[in-house]
Amino acid sequence: MSYGQQYPDVSELPAAAVQLNHTAVYASDRHLSAEFIAAILGLKVGAPFGPFLPVDLGNGVTLDYYEKRDEPIQSQHYAFIVPEAQFDTMIARLEAVGVTYYADPGHTEPGRINRLFGGRGAYFDDPDGHNLEIMTRPYVRP
Ligand SMILES: [Fe+2]
Repeated sequence: MSYGQQYPDVSELPAAAVQLNHTAVYASDRHLSAEFIAAILGLKVGAPFGPFLPVDLGNGVTLDYYEKRDEPIQSQHYAFIVPEAQFDTMIARLEAVGVTYYADPGHTEPGRINRLFGGRGAYFDDPDGHNLEIMTRPYVRP
């Protein structure tokens, strides 16, 4: 089999319950990036695991920061549901370290938050330009 051909038909099967467990997040400096997200979101940087520097999100998912020094880092988007009671604190932490947040993913509304889906949200860049999003309510998808 190759990609783009007919895949097995699973449409009649019950949907599997699959949980994301970890993903590698590329960074030019894994300590800088892991410590940044941990400081903003109120998490802890774990012990190095081989080339990975983990940040446990507390929901069974770990971000494994992995250093890629010799090539440009392709910006990815990571969105986090955060407790409503912590949102203001996270915004204040961004302000304290001088990182601009935006109401929109395209970063055209600096210093503002959004109120999508009855919650609050904001976007900001990590040290390598990964577009991070904090939101208090998940997207309502059709
Ligand atoms: Fe998003």
